[in-house]
Amino acid sequence: MARFLVTGGIPLKGTITANGSKNSALPIITAAALAAEGESVLENVPRYTDILDLCEILRQLGARVEWDGSCTLRVAAPKLTAWEAPYHLARKLRGSTYVVGLLLARRGQAEVAVPGGCDIGARPVDFHLRGFRSLGAETRVEHGSILAQASRLEGTVIFVDRASVGTTVNLMITASLASGTTVLENAAREPEIVDLANFLNGMGGHVRGAGTNVIRIEGVEVLHGTRHEVIPDRIEAGTYLIAGVATGGRVRVENAIPEHLRTVLAKLEEAGAQVAEGTDWVEAWANGRLQAVDIQTQPYPGFPTDLQSPFVSLLSVAEGVSVVEETIFDNRFGFANELIRMGADIKVERNTALVRGGERLTGAPIEARDIRGGAALMVAGLSAEGETEIGGMRHIDRGYHAMEEKLTALGARVRRGE
Ligand code: UD1
Repeated sequence: MARFLVTGGIPLKGTITANGSKNSALPIITAAALAAEGESVLENVPRYTDILDLCEILRQLGARVEWDGSCTLRVAAPKLTAWEAPYHLARKLRGSTYVVGLLLARRGQAEVAVPGGCDIGARPVDFHLRGFRSLGAETRVEHGSILAQASRLEGTVIFVDRASVGTTVNLMITASLASGTTVLENAAREPEIVDLANFLNGMGGHVRGAGTNVIRIEGVEVLHGTRHEVIPDRIEAGTYLIAGVATGGRVRVENAIPEHLRTVLAKLEEAGAQVAEGTDWVEAWANGRLQAVDIQTQPYPGFPTDLQSPFVSLLSVAEGVSVVEETIFDNRFGFANELIRMGADIKVERNTALVRGGERLTGAPIEARDIRGGAALMVAGLSAEGETEIGGMRHIDRGYHAMEEKLTALGARVRRGE
């Protein structure tokens, strides 16, 4: 099994550049295939494995999806020739759910595998399906796939349960070609939603209110291709900042939007780190022993669930007891068992982890089971004494491109091994 081999205890120092956001690129690439006219040129698209899988799904549906250089993607879909996404690809990533919204809008019919993705608890799609039904579709789940069909999609008012990010995305995609106006109440407010709205508007769509909890989408007859630059990946940026501080180092991330990291930066400061920022960069460094802080994950602009895991690794070497509450997913502390092997003192009770910080962690063979849990193990390995072997590398690769190269540029000793 492929794994990362990490020699810990070296403070990370230097500058890296954040990639484009995976969670923004997935909806935007899918939405690009809504256009029956022209071609979209998408810039700052990260080459994560989830993105490559989505591109392949769209190709098999009849879209032309081509890389132009390392992070520019050209997408054209004058016709979508199929309405069934390849099962083995679609089941791999959560973002494939957006293909249901796309196919409903373009073909009035969709068959897409119920997605897998990360092992962080049950990840149902009931909110998505309820939303499609409100727009006039019939939906059911059969033989591991979502089946959806609509002879006509009609805008309406939809309450988005739990301000679900994926549901908001999917309904924005479908409603853009539905007739009439769709109003999403309790919509997600994540920056990735705003990025998608900007892209849809560039395609000739009519989306208003993205970034607030009420989004209005006026359906249009046809969308056309456009040029768009995907926003920077706030989760990747946050991960490297946390890793820098946890190792007692100083990391600067360029191509970052500090506003998107507000709560994370506030928590780093509360833990005793120093933070500096400019319009498109942010830097954080440790300033003596880190202190315990309490965290509760929340929808944006609250503390992001995707950075909870790496932050727990940081807290496991901070002074004092931190209480970390996960309110978004029901099983997002699996990685804590691996940290315990490294000497961390963490007690998990349902959705809360009690982290008693110690002086140090020590390297051990450990196993990643999800993207962000994998990032947490990397942060732990970097700050630990001795060697850490992190198995399950493919999970980390789904959300961090060439992580070992960025870490090496920061002075870390990380390599891939068999
Ligand atoms: C997206 C992100 C993920 C991030 C999460 C929360 C992508 C590809 N993934 O995931 O990185 O951690 O937002 O910011 O963008 N739920 C249901 N039924 C549904 C849909 C969701 O019960 O049909 C539940 C989920 O299990 C979860 C909560 O609602 O408990 C919020 O999930 P949601 O915001 O939809 O997350 P994703 O879009 O899957």
